Amino acid sequence: MTSKYFYITTPIYYVNARPHLGHAYTTLVADVLCRYHRMKQKETFLLTGTDEHGDKVVRAAKAEKETPRAYVDKISALFRDLWPKLNVEYNDFIRTTEPRHIAVVEQVLQRIYDAGDIYFSEYEGLYCFGCERFYSEHELIDGKCPDHETVPEPIKESNYFFKMSRYQNWLIDHIQSHPDFIRPQRYRNEVLAFLKEPLEDLCISRPKTRLQWGITLPFDNNFVTYVWFDALLNYVSAVGYPAGERFLKFWPHAQHIVAKDILKPHGIYWPTMLKAAGIPVYQHLNVHGYWNVDHSKMSKTLKNVIEPLALIEKYGLDAFRYFLMREMVFGLDAGFSESALVARINSDLANDLGNLFSRTLAMAHKYFKGQVPQTDSEIREEMELSLEKKARETVSEYTDAMDAFAFHKALMAVWDFINQMNKYIDVTAPWMLAKDPAQRDTLAAVISNLLEGLHVVSHLIYPVMPGCARTMQRHLGIDPDACSFDLHGLGAFDRLRDGVHLPKAVALFPRVDTVETQAESADKVHAAEAVSPVKPEIDMETFRKLDLRVATVLKAEPLPRAKKLLLLTLDVGEPRTVVAGIAQHYPPEELAGKQVVVAANLKPAKIMGVLSQGMILAAVDGKDVVLLTVEKPVKPGTSVS
Ligand code: MSP
Repeated sequence: MTSKYFYITTPIYYVNARPHLGHAYTTLVADVLCRYHRMKQKETFLLTGTDEHGDKVVRAAKAEKETPRAYVDKISALFRDLWPKLNVEYNDFIRTTEPRHIAVVEQVLQRIYDAGDIYFSEYEGLYCFGCERFYSEHELIDGKCPDHETVPEPIKESNYFFKMSRYQNWLIDHIQSHPDFIRPQRYRNEVLAFLKEPLEDLCISRPKTRLQWGITLPFDNNFVTYVWFDALLNYVSAVGYPAGERFLKFWPHAQHIVAKDILKPHGIYWPTMLKAAGIPVYQHLNVHGYWNVDHSKMSKTLKNVIEPLALIEKYGLDAFRYFLMREMVFGLDAGFSESALVARINSDLANDLGNLFSRTLAMAHKYFKGQVPQTDSEIREEMELSLEKKARETVSEYTDAMDAFAFHKALMAVWDFINQMNKYIDVTAPWMLAKDPAQRDTLAAVISNLLEGLHVVSHLIYPVMPGCARTMQRHLGIDPDACSFDLHGLGAFDRLRDGVHLPKAVALFPRVDTVETQAESADKVHAAEAVSPVKPEIDMETFRKLDLRVATVLKAEPLPRAKKLLLLTLDVGEPRTVVAGIAQHYPPEELAGKQVVVAANLKPAKIMGVLSQGMILAAVDGKDVVLLTVEKPVKPGTSVS
């Protein structure tokens, strides 16, 4: 269903712990989605907040020697203040201790009670205080709560129950007739598997003799509401159930994001509660996996809790947002490590995107006085080498992936395009074109295409890296505040105005040099030294006789009847053919555009009937052959000394 509105919620987080990486991820996904849907011209609403009632909170407050009220105020503020620092633009922050929420909980309880779906009964069962719920024997693992790994305590008490069992068949039908009600599939299957067993009724009260920190039942003053029955209702109370304007506008489009830990309350309790209360059920439950650290769950005892703010301070906000979205496949677990974050910053951000951006702008400055060059549309199309087509394909792959919550795939599509543009620079070699005044129009076309391509990239990265997107826009001569990031028609290379002045490039993402990255390269050097002994000394004079040059591969093709050889056409400032024994290590189509190093004054030799005019250099480690290249593109023919 396409609609004008997009309503997304995060879980409301318990205030018994400080915000960590897991909370940050879910909330960032919600923000990324809202930004994306705004690019599709939707009106979006992002709800987050804190879950403040229940045993757990009372115990945490006691441990801190504070009253529950003072304690929840303090921790709730930590969450509320964190989100703007992560550039999360939420529309509302709900707290379950607010009167507006309490009023809705009372109203819905009364409604379900009046309809006859709540009854009073004595119950004896095994209660886990950590989960704040009863467990049946078969749910326990070795007699222990699967989450807390503690033995639940037997408790006997009279309580109120919600007739959840009455809605079991309806829920099964609903899930089956709405294939993406719970997604991805694996979680839908998990809920359906659970529903194969008879559903028990849900205990929804706690006697005040045991717990006072909760919402009093409207029909019995001696009980407070079970914390989950209270908390789930935040999704409707915050938008003004039953008749508020926001509720009427956004609720029909509601989607939730949760991690797999709270699948059951959201996949089973919540839809049956809604059904019993006569409220239309939500559209989608989107479930993601867990971030683990060093292969284990984050926990205070393991001292491996990752604090988002510390990472942002060290590596920057956009890099942090990018890493989380790129690294986790939504639905599956992912591992967090600082070294993986650094690797992504250095390769994807500093190297691929950062270099493309700075090279392109540097060329616009060097060759066109920092202006968007004027182009002849025919030459431009000719020089496009299907870059615009690739841009359009990228936009379509990206939107498909974003619609499917496959954020990693959406970013992979963008990076494919970025790398295609980096290759485009190598293949068109603007520095060669610049030497020839007759090629001025071609050069203008190349730079213009690159600037247009960057403009597309700046849009596509906006939901994940809004700060970087704005910086890029500014350097492409667009006022980011005036630009409504818009997906409509994106991909067409007609967005930049000729002659607009472009501010000089800045480093979008500086490389991160950590002790580890330095140690890693040192290790590699040592390993290489260990491989083969160094040859006997030569003097400088002998060394200087060797003429090493940088060359750009113009063409690479197989040599008939020679399995190991490739015939390379190189630009060494002048064209040359070289036969290289790299056919089993590099597919020819990967070589065009690459820069390599050639021993240029080697005596030419005939190999398989072809005159080879030089030798390209490679690192050879046993069977591994890795071509030597330059750290950033240089003019073909540049000498290496
Ligand atoms: N208060 C309940 C939710 C009530 S919603 C009506 C609760 N709170 S919580 O503080 O424990 O938050 C759980 C949620 O935090 C997870 O569902 C997930 O969104 C996020 N995460 C917490 N730890 C996480 C990871 N290690 N990895 C990924 N997300 C995690 O449950």
